[in-house]
Amino acid sequence: MKTITELKRMKTEGSKIVMMTAYDYPTAAFAEKSDVDLLLVGDSLGMVVLGYPSTVYVTSEDMIHHGKAVRRGARDTFLVVDLPFGTFRGSQDRILTEAIRVFQETGADALKVEGADEVLDTIQLLTSTGIPVVAHLGLLPQSASVIGGYKVQGKTADAARKLLDDAKLCEQAGACMIVVECIPHQLTAQLAAAVSIPVIGIGAGAEADGQVLVFHDLVKYGDHRLPKFAESFSDAGAVIQDGIRSYTNAVRTGTFPGKQHHFTMKEEELMNLYG
Ligand code: KIV
Ligand code: NA
Repeated sequence: MKTITELKRMKTEGSKIVMMTAYDYPTAAFAEKSDVDLLLVGDSLGMVVLGYPSTVYVTSEDMIHHGKAVRRGARDTFLVVDLPFGTFRGSQDRILTEAIRVFQETGADALKVEGADEVLDTIQLLTSTGIPVVAHLGLLPQSASVIGGYKVQGKTADAARKLLDDAKLCEQAGACMIVVECIPHQLTAQLAAAVSIPVIGIGAGAEADGQVLVFHDLVKYGDHRLPKFAESFSDAGAVIQDGIRSYTNAVRTGTFPGKQHHFTMKEEELMNLYG
């Protein structure tokens, strides 16, 4: 398993860090076998797996349920689990109880929280408790309904300056990594240079220290629309659809099940049955 120290060294050496999301046991096992550096149980779970219209419906129970499955599939890969909407703001006691529960029950190596400002206290609180925290800046899907949809962030000099400040503040608060989503690639370059912790991008250009993609986008699994910044590296959806159609067809035409799938009763038992 890559440690935070090793991931930081990768940043310094300029070797790209590879991260992807996973939500279940087989995907996690495939990712570990494919030498992925970091796994994220993202709250994108709500949309790509559970079929909700946004991530705000995801609960800690959902994250724990899927986080445990991913951990079982990839025991030797650095695992980040998202803290879902509404769980990392409010009283420190409540945040800490919730975070400790998700951290302990999933066996995650770090938790991820969206935003800076009032979330900086959360980053500091969790880090000082011994829970490594990944920050998430730029487009914050949990706040999409406030910012007016899923839009590129940090396009003006002022907005970019704020994001650079936020990144530094996240590092100072103790964050061990930063995910940046949907920001101009030039800003990503500045941001990655401004902090010593790895900056992992999604829709943020090649200048990030690493990349993260949603599993369902990268293998094209599902009927959702692919965001502009995503790329499909295989077409799992087509393969799966094809398999289901062939199965349907085989049952209806009587070619499945065949003799090789049968169980057989002894002839004498059959005679007894008939009396
Ligand atoms: O939930 C998620 O999948 C994420 C990634 C987009 C970084 O937070
Ligand atoms: Na997320």
